[in-house]
Amino acid sequence: MPELKRHAGVQDSHEGSKSSYPPPARVQGKDGHPKPHIGPDFAAYKAEWEKSVGPDADKWWGQKARECLDWFSDFKTVFAGGFEAGDIQWFPEGTLNAAYNCVDRHYYKNPDKVAIIYEADEPSDSREITYRELFHEVCRVANVLRSWGVKRGDAVSVYLPMTWQAVVAFLACARIGAVHSAVFAGFSAESLRDRVNDCECKVLITTDEGRRGGKTIATKAIVDAALAQCPLIEKVLVLRRTGSKVPMTEGRDFWWDEEAEKLSSYSVCEHMNSEDPLFILYTSGSTGKPKGVVHSTAGYLLGGYLTVKYVFDLHPDDRFACMADVGWITGHTYIVYGPLCLGVTTTVFESTPVYPTASRYWDAVDKWKLTQLYTAPTAIRLLRRMGEDAVKNHDLSSLRVLGTVGEPINPEAWHWYNDHAGRGQCAIVDTYWMTETGSHMVTPLPGAIATKPGSATFPFFGVDVDILDPTNGKVLEGGDVEGVLAAKRPWPAIARTIYRDHKRYLETYMKPYPGYFFFGDGAARDEDGYLWIKGRVDDVINVSGHRLSTAEVESALILHKGVSETAVVGCPDELTGQAVYAFVQMKPEFDIKATSVDALTKELAIQVRKVIGPFAAPKRIFLVSDLPKTRSGKIMRRILRKICSKEADSLGDLSSMEKPEIVDSLTDQVYKAMGWK
Ligand code: WTA
Repeated sequence: MPELKRHAGVQDSHEGSKSSYPPPARVQGKDGHPKPHIGPDFAAYKAEWEKSVGPDADKWWGQKARECLDWFSDFKTVFAGGFEAGDIQWFPEGTLNAAYNCVDRHYYKNPDKVAIIYEADEPSDSREITYRELFHEVCRVANVLRSWGVKRGDAVSVYLPMTWQAVVAFLACARIGAVHSAVFAGFSAESLRDRVNDCECKVLITTDEGRRGGKTIATKAIVDAALAQCPLIEKVLVLRRTGSKVPMTEGRDFWWDEEAEKLSSYSVCEHMNSEDPLFILYTSGSTGKPKGVVHSTAGYLLGGYLTVKYVFDLHPDDRFACMADVGWITGHTYIVYGPLCLGVTTTVFESTPVYPTASRYWDAVDKWKLTQLYTAPTAIRLLRRMGEDAVKNHDLSSLRVLGTVGEPINPEAWHWYNDHAGRGQCAIVDTYWMTETGSHMVTPLPGAIATKPGSATFPFFGVDVDILDPTNGKVLEGGDVEGVLAAKRPWPAIARTIYRDHKRYLETYMKPYPGYFFFGDGAARDEDGYLWIKGRVDDVINVSGHRLSTAEVESALILHKGVSETAVVGCPDELTGQAVYAFVQMKPEFDIKATSVDALTKELAIQVRKVIGPFAAPKRIFLVSDLPKTRSGKIMRRILRKICSKEADSLGDLSSMEKPEIVDSLTDQVYKAMGWK
């Protein structure tokens, strides 16, 4: 049974927030708005959910799969396998192609429909891309990859910031059956190197430079630094984003536009098996080594399709905007695969919520008449801090559904989102899921489920969860219970394995509670049956919705020649949800006085930026002479978490601690630095 390590700072929002908000008129088909797919009330959700998990679930899923996806050849079996062996299969005999489902079928029907709104960093560079243009660009890039010898099953690295061509890169891979492995463009050269080498890529797709918030990012330079240690890479396709002169390695690097132009604007789709991998996406776990999460083709696609349709209540003419980065799972499912599979208009947002002003989101909503907006609590908190003037005086009447993802949303942020962006007329959907689940797990449905600020409400179709007692794995029944969240049955979009490490897949998700898939989060259920996600119970921290493992940050710090030991914890942060706090013990022979404490902590922060990426840099670094340890030498991070959360007066049992006397000086040091004393 895993040790429960709930991070401090995830507030018990359900204590303070009992009121519920029924579906507003805008998602009830009133005032000229479309009738919701699932509505008008809870019973409509419940009836459909029961079908999706009941004795006839296979029939329901078979029907949905045939209705929503285009198949080259039909399947016989709907579902096979299970959690125990991790041999899950959905629609195993079927063949299809994800790019065909996301592009071709819509292009044939409606070539001039806008597929992508590209909201560029400079608003004036923004434009729309039709399904026709998307189709031809995907075909051309697919042909380039094929001409380079990329075959079905080969992995291709994608290191692209938020340009619309990132969507093209994914779909070009999918078209020829290659498995894309996108690396978030905020990762450093070293992180990129490790991910490229882990999946043995021979080809990488990138750009000259990125643009974000008015700044230029030297993407190609980072790639060059990474590739110096990626012996398998043979070819690099470089998108011209800014047009700046960047070094190109003869025989290895080729310009996207020049290569694509040479080849046909049509290319055939590979017929892929339902269970063929569509992509690998690395994510942080409890250890220092990132996990290559592998998603399947048909199940993943169907999960994306159904959630985007029902959770955002998408209708054919909707203009959907997910503000996440394509480098994370939210971008994969809700910028690329979900909305495009449905054939609606999706948005690629290159900028930040505050560039050039804090009105950027609302300018975009007004300009493009966006119907749904999907962002993270951290962005909402940032905008809330910037004040209401930035959101006033914008026509936001096109919006119907506002979504949040990535961390529990605090009721203050929820209310701000509801009052100022939604103006009390939009449904707020707090969607709980993770990289490994592929698509939403627990979420409201706009036209059917009354929301409570801070609650992700009820399981999505096909998802059946229990709350378990973490100490003995027993099911906690009824209302007003708290424990860990686990799923009882496999759903189509569940990750199939960890790349080259099926054992780790089984150990992480299936073994902790036999018969269940363990999400790694704590959760409560209230008397009305609403689920409240409480945050990670393992060594994963969540900074602005970015998943980081404490071990990864610790491994980065320890690479500094003077560092003897480190302990990293996640602590509550008003803006980013959690922040990284690092405790560092230098080697006795390291002379701190030779440098200044300031200079040393800066050096350590740079070390983390270099090894992982800027987003992982600790917010605070404490140089300490001792770390709290058990008598057997294990670092007691629990103590550090408590101290950093200003809870030093409730440290609990210290009897297993080796030197309890250090607690006071540690507390003193932290409280002084934080200005609490
Ligand atoms: C957290 C992001 C509370 C959770 C899609 C999970 C959430 C981790 C929510 C996965 C939410 C995500 N409420 N917590 N609505 N959404 N989380 O893999 O701790 O980057 O385990 O996927 O984010 O992060 P990941």
